[in-house]
Amino acid sequence: MADNDDTHPEGPVMCSCSGTRRNLIRRLYLEEGKDVHAISRWTGALSGCGGCEWEIADFLKELEAGKHSGK
Ligand code: FES
Repeated sequence: MADNDDTHPEGPVMCSCSGTRRNLIRRLYLEEGKDVHAISRWTGALSGCGGCEWEIADFLKELEAGKHSGK
């Protein structure tokens, strides 16, 4: 089976170079207050091909918007 198993508890892989999953990025951003650079250093995301850059940037924007709308 492929990497993009949406049933994984940590969510789908957002960065296939590092295998970083969506929920880890969410936790680091919302609970630990890390910005995209810290998330990259922490997980290895964005440090390979860079192909996940926009997807992760969009996801962080979504999370940021969610913070201001109560959840
Ligand atoms: S998919 Fe994230 S660096 Fe390649």
